[in-house]
Amino acid sequence: MSLLIKNGRVITAVDDYHADIFIEKDTISVIGKSLSMAADQTIDAKGKLVIPGGIDPHTHLDMPFGGTVSADDFESGTRAAAHGGTTTLIDFAIQTKGESTLQGLDTWHQKAEGKTAIDYGFHMIITDMEDHRINEMKTLANEGVTSYKLFMAYPGVLYVDDGTIYRAMRKAGEDGTVICMHAENGIVIDEIVKEALKKGHTEPKYHALTRPTRMEAEGVHRAIAIAEVAEVPVYIVHLSSADALQQVVLARDRGVHAFAETCPQYLFLDQSYYEKPDFEGAKYVMTPALREKWNQDELWRGLQFGDLQSISTDHCPFCFKEQKELGRNDFSKIPNGAPGVENRMSLVHNGGVVQGRINLNKFVDLTSTAAAKTFGLFPKKGTIAIGTDADIVIFDPDRKETISVNNPCTHHMRVDYNAYEGIEVQGISETVISRGKVIVENCDYIGKKGDGQFIKRGLYGGI
Ligand code: URP
Ligand code: ZN
Ligand code: ZN
Repeated sequence: MSLLIKNGRVITAVDDYHADIFIEKDTISVIGKSLSMAADQTIDAKGKLVIPGGIDPHTHLDMPFGGTVSADDFESGTRAAAHGGTTTLIDFAIQTKGESTLQGLDTWHQKAEGKTAIDYGFHMIITDMEDHRINEMKTLANEGVTSYKLFMAYPGVLYVDDGTIYRAMRKAGEDGTVICMHAENGIVIDEIVKEALKKGHTEPKYHALTRPTRMEAEGVHRAIAIAEVAEVPVYIVHLSSADALQQVVLARDRGVHAFAETCPQYLFLDQSYYEKPDFEGAKYVMTPALREKWNQDELWRGLQFGDLQSISTDHCPFCFKEQKELGRNDFSKIPNGAPGVENRMSLVHNGGVVQGRINLNKFVDLTSTAAAKTFGLFPKKGTIAIGTDADIVIFDPDRKETISVNNPCTHHMRVDYNAYEGIEVQGISETVISRGKVIVENCDYIGKKGDGQFIKRGLYGGI
């Protein structure tokens, strides 16, 4: 099978030129001006951008959490991701406390295998790491799971103490792998939550009011300090506030290998969303919480100047009617998480490129290349070059759509609301190619379940 993409404007994290791209099977084999090769299929990309498929390094599909399970599984979630121009995601497998991480990996392989529309990898969430288990981390790395997430939040659920963090970090550093950190002081936050509930403060807005940005900043500071001593690169996930960002900036200025992602929810939504009537604020209960609006400018500044490297979604959808309802009388019981895997590329293009905050190269870097580099996927993925996987999005930079749960071009996630409802975006992923196969054609999904493959990722590649 061969595919020729003609007349497009090819954008990578560093390039910007007009060319044709010839794909044989799943790989880009020729890039050149006016190629006249015979191909099984030809796509005219005139007037469109030809960009590397998006990489979303942070999703939670089919994840048991908050007394329920996230609403998208590996079939529906990866199909929605494909619609939005994402061709690889890295989801989180979970170690059950007291059990082997390898068992956790098996469980997540079973959830995903044969179901996905796009390629995928796993990080491993470590919930304990006793000495006798520590060598499992090397086995995981050999299996292509080269990053681990640790939680300073959610005591009694996913939380690990500083000793466990240090042990896991030491081993990760020795093995050349990466630690992802949910950095918030969950122990203190739980005390603040208890105080609020005692006062009868049960509405969704108290989710934000009980999670001060200082407790995020403290977590980020501590995570980076421990990582520095343990000699391991640390990647702060879903960074949400200026307060926390400042800690990353200070560390990077000192030469520490500290990296961070933010997410569209922290760039486009804010704390006022919790005030929505009729319990609708519950739709935005996620952790970290949405912040005061002024933080958004600081996060964009972090993206512009390289202190934040990636934009992931932390896609963790729960239906408003059936699942968020679990916390109707107690905000602390609202399942934490929100949908977004489908809307990331359009939101970032609109808020970033169209609004003049970043250029197209940076757009590609933030949505694809940087994650590929951090998580051992580069150069197979995250760029357009001869020999790379033909994961390509033909992106219309001018087309406008209003994001809505009812718009068939913007919502295929299996959840009954869209967190970005009513936001108009300019820039749509029109045609999506995954390893040489067209899986989305002008908003229509034409791929099939099982097109995606598990990707064994390489070690951390350095800066
Ligand atoms: O609210 C969130 N973010 N839910 C998913 C779990 C996590 O902390 O990433
Ligand atoms: Zn988290
Ligand atoms: Zn998450």
